[in-house]
Amino acid sequence: MKDFKRTLVTAALPYANGGVHIGHLAGVYVPADIYVRYLRLRGREVLFVCGSDEHGVPVTIRARKEGCTPQEVVDRYHGLIKDAFERFGIAFDIYSRTTSAVHRQTASDFFRKLYEKGEFLEQESQQYYDPEAKTFLADRYITGECPHCHAAGAYGDQCEKCGKDLSPTELINPHSTISGARPELRTTRHWYLPLDRHQEWLGKWITEDHKEWRTNVMGQCKSWLDMGLKPRAVSRDLDWGIPVPVEGAEGKVLYVWFDAPIGYISNTKELLPESWEKWWKQDDTRLVHFIGKDNIVFHCIVFPAMLRAEGSYIFPDNVPANEFLNLEDDKISTSKGWAVWLHEYLDELPGKQDVLRYVLTANAPETKDNNFTWADFQARNNNELVAVYGNFVNRALVLTKKYYDGVVPACGALNDADRAAIAEFAEVKERVEALIEQFRFRDAQKEAMNLARIGNKYLAEAEPWKIVKSNPARVETILYLSLQLAANLAIAFEPFLPQSSERLRKMLGMGAPQWERLGSIDLLPAGHRLGEVELLFEKIDDAVVEAQVEKLERRKAERLAAEQRPEPQRPDIAFEDFEKLDIRVGTVVECERVPKTDKLLRFLIDDGQEQRTIVSGIAGHYAPETLAGRQVCFIANLPPRKLRGIESRGMILSAVDFRTGALAVATVEKPVAPGSQIG
Ligand code: 2FM
Ligand code: ZN
Repeated sequence: MKDFKRTLVTAALPYANGGVHIGHLAGVYVPADIYVRYLRLRGREVLFVCGSDEHGVPVTIRARKEGCTPQEVVDRYHGLIKDAFERFGIAFDIYSRTTSAVHRQTASDFFRKLYEKGEFLEQESQQYYDPEAKTFLADRYITGECPHCHAAGAYGDQCEKCGKDLSPTELINPHSTISGARPELRTTRHWYLPLDRHQEWLGKWITEDHKEWRTNVMGQCKSWLDMGLKPRAVSRDLDWGIPVPVEGAEGKVLYVWFDAPIGYISNTKELLPESWEKWWKQDDTRLVHFIGKDNIVFHCIVFPAMLRAEGSYIFPDNVPANEFLNLEDDKISTSKGWAVWLHEYLDELPGKQDVLRYVLTANAPETKDNNFTWADFQARNNNELVAVYGNFVNRALVLTKKYYDGVVPACGALNDADRAAIAEFAEVKERVEALIEQFRFRDAQKEAMNLARIGNKYLAEAEPWKIVKSNPARVETILYLSLQLAANLAIAFEPFLPQSSERLRKMLGMGAPQWERLGSIDLLPAGHRLGEVELLFEKIDDAVVEAQVEKLERRKAERLAAEQRPEPQRPDIAFEDFEKLDIRVGTVVECERVPKTDKLLRFLIDDGQEQRTIVSGIAGHYAPETLAGRQVCFIANLPPRKLRGIESRGMILSAVDFRTGALAVATVEKPVAPGSQIG
């Protein structure tokens, strides 16, 4: 590897049209944070840059839905995301946003430079235009019938029913979601980044110079390269974004994926207006992008091509992209309400940031998609953090309090068991380092946890509590070494579980963590006084995780219900046909369940002339006694029908809530004489 002087770490800019969920955390922010904390601990010069990605069509769609401006949408979500990251403890040097003035200027200048260098193609294309709203339509703003499954309401880029990708011109009977008008094709002009011109150097740079990239990253890059790179439009007809800074481009903005990665640069500039160039333009800076797998092509192909076209920037040295995290065996879906939101987690499980970090790292989707379940969350907390790490630390501290009044005892002569334990934990530092440097955080964290396992085994075998009277000198050595091991744990876990490490250091009365001392057995000198002992981790009860699973299920059901649409209207009928129906109001004289049936109720209805029997299938929705005396609406002139041997003369009208399936009998707003007609 090249000899780099400093590392610039970026984490994908989250879209500010929703919150951040555990999939984002596991895929991007937790690994990036571990990496940065590790580099800082090692005394490396490092900068960690992120911010909100605030442009793009989804923001405008949300604004339209909520009846507010796009700026209001991004202000709200930027605030929510930034606050959640802070509370969670992601240690960005800057978390800014792509609506900042610095970014607008930087992205605009970047575009203009490429434009002036002739790095773009200008091309005309045919695009749908809404003649009523007088605007070109983004693909998402056009709906129609899917050409594949014929579902109504497919979008111009995808059919959500059958999942097929579409282009807007494929839609049958398209219409604009803005005005409802039928869109017409009009000619528009856009700027394209001719990726084909970059194919050759990109191919060599990726496949020859960066053989060390993860297999999933390399795989996606190769497949793009093999298909042959094509020009990509970098502008859009939209009224939300950074205006294209050239004459004659009114109404056009930079494509969100053009401006977003420039956000990494702008945010660095905002933080370090004097020295940002050192981080972006000097070859001795190592640039590392942490992203999810859906961002690979943009970070490994498009952004490098943009940087190359500009000419003065360095390229990423590595792009450790993760696969996806599923939730309870299902794809995380914000539209279906199937997600664990960071801001909610922080509110509902306060003080448990490290538990989530631990579980997400243990299940990190580094090489394949992985799964988060609340049962696993509980098990890893209770069986690993509490039973292994917490338990070891607690035993070492409590025994020292008990036998030595909280003062580190002296170390006597070492025996074979001591030497074996020391040798084992001396290796951990190198292993954790090697794994983190290869972006294998999951295995690296396992190594840290292994220290606690070594400690537990050592204490269990040494059994100091049994020999405290018979061999006090030996007990001193056992506890001396156990405390050193606990101090090592505080250092080893620092990048992974920073809050717990801080608490442990406090309990041990330790100063700032010194990574280079990891593996030493003289971190706490004899005679050193420990701090107050607390529990490092607490058990999580069944009720806590059950409530979380229930919340997920409830949300999913609510979303599904909200997605239901009323039945489409039936074809028109002649007024005379309507007049044929004799709908009347009757008073329920008697109502009882039809024996041996689940669904049927037998009504005796006063219809003004006589008491007629009507059988209705609504027993699942009403207890019969609650209906007696009520007025109901019924169709009086249907032919009699026999149901379970009972002759039913008419039909009681009711509405079924299409969202919930609940049934409500139709009645009148104030009492009327039985037999009154409805019409
Ligand atoms: O996929 C996403 O969430 C994008 N907002 C990531 C952008 S990363 C960078 F290019 F800004
Ligand atoms: Zn379809």
